[in-house]
Amino acid sequence: MTPRVVIARHLPEAGRALLAERFDLDDDGVEDLAARVRGADALVADPTVPVDAALLDAAGKSLKVVANFAVGYDNIDLAACRERGVLVTNTPDVLTNATAELAVALMLSAARRAGEAERMVRAHRWEGWHPGQLLGRELSGSTVGIVGLGRIGTRVAELLQGFGVTLLYAARSRHPEQEARLGAAHTDLDSLLERSDFVTLHVPLTAETHHLIDDRALRRMQPGAVLVNTSRGGLVDSVALARALRDGALFAAGLDVYEQEPTVPTELLELENAVLLPHIGSATTAARSGMARLAAENVIAILEGRAPLTPVS
Ligand code: DGY
Repeated sequence: MTPRVVIARHLPEAGRALLAERFDLDDDGVEDLAARVRGADALVADPTVPVDAALLDAAGKSLKVVANFAVGYDNIDLAACRERGVLVTNTPDVLTNATAELAVALMLSAARRAGEAERMVRAHRWEGWHPGQLLGRELSGSTVGIVGLGRIGTRVAELLQGFGVTLLYAARSRHPEQEARLGAAHTDLDSLLERSDFVTLHVPLTAETHHLIDDRALRRMQPGAVLVNTSRGGLVDSVALARALRDGALFAAGLDVYEQEPTVPTELLELENAVLLPHIGSATTAARSGMARLAAENVIAILEGRAPLTPVS
């Protein structure tokens, strides 16, 4: 019998076509996923689709793989998958550059008050050039602290080479090759927070990293500092962040991700010094096509009895 593959929401054509030519494909939208997955051999999920024990049980014993259309997989209960012998894959590498570029864009937008400036123009409140208007901070010559020197954190460090910044990073293990190649110095998180003008987060969301940036961490940061988060909203206590931005404990923040997406806390929406984007880190045509292809290739490999290309360990 032709294996059945369920796409929980939407898979760009670059991957959808690969699956459609081989399998019986169900991509009829997110309605009643529990009913749609029944008897599926593979499920293509994404960060908005919680894959928990109940969904796995609804799929039943036929399910062999959950292919996440994302590099992050905090939406998936890995232990429940393991217990049921279901493999999990993700989409690393293909979105590294897109996400790193967005982190740099957020650093610059937040530091140069680009959101606030654009709102002024659109609201017809701009009365012309003024010497003291919308003064911001410069990235060049600053100290940038990268939390997590994995693929995306490393790419951010590469992109920043032309800015003449001092690079610090905090990570569980040292990366001597990157330290030498990128001129990045390893330090612990507290010292990184105290010394950095820009702090950018590139660690996954886990039980250990939940609210990594809480009130205590924010109070360690410099008053002129900028915080950027393109990873997962749960890394930052958004109530504490809004307070720090309002009180001037931080200069600005650039956020692409939130704790309860798509809800953006009102406290943040009200702040001029928060640049707020709708989780678009990987939203380039190239990255999304690459992610779709990789998700599909993982499904194909597993359903054809081969090893997946990018399994989640
Ligand atoms: C990911 O890949 O984890 C992003 O959040 C979505 O591209």
